[in-house]
Amino acid sequence: KRVAILISGGGSNMVALAQSMCGDHPARPVLVLSNNPQAGGLAKARGLHIPTMAIDHETYGVDRTGFEAALQKALETARPDIICLAGFMRILSPQFMEKWDGRMLNIHPSLLPKYKGLHTHARALEAGDAEHGCTVHEVTAALDDGPILGQARIKVQPDDTPQTLADRLLPLEHALYPAVLARFACGDRTPVILPA
Ligand code: GRF
Repeated sequence: KRVAILISGGGSNMVALAQSMCGDHPARPVLVLSNNPQAGGLAKARGLHIPTMAIDHETYGVDRTGFEAALQKALETARPDIICLAGFMRILSPQFMEKWDGRMLNIHPSLLPKYKGLHTHARALEAGDAEHGCTVHEVTAALDDGPILGQARIKVQPDDTPQTLADRLLPLEHALYPAVLARFACGDRTPVILPA
């Protein structure tokens, strides 16, 4: 299976995914693409010998369709079977999504369906939640919606801040996303729940 990974920033989830696709794993990374030419993840992908591409969404101004047309063209060249959004911070239109329906995954730093959108750690703290976590889901036209393919949970500590939550969650994301991809690449949609 050919996997394209879309990033916007540091790309730590992309690194975890890429490093998991080795040996007899049914998938291989074929492209790392960022909407941000300055994304630190692009250098990490080059270090992993994965083809990279940057399509700067700012050069398209408010013209989302222009950006998405360039994105679609790049993806049609890379021919991925699966697209993993990993810290990708652009909302994709329903028109774009329908081309990849059932073949696009995303990781979101909350226990969906709670806290769709941004600032998930602060919102979990404000709500006084005892637990927090991250979710890998199939991407559909609705933001941070779609069938859940995996979740990892952590206990919220009394002195937690949004930053300490994010820091404790990131290693779990790096365990969850590759575990979900390994199943998804084999057509297995049984949810992965961590800790096991
Ligand atoms: C992570 O918090 C992840 O949950 C969210 O983007 C953040 C950065 O991820 N999707 P990465 O280090 O760029 O993979």
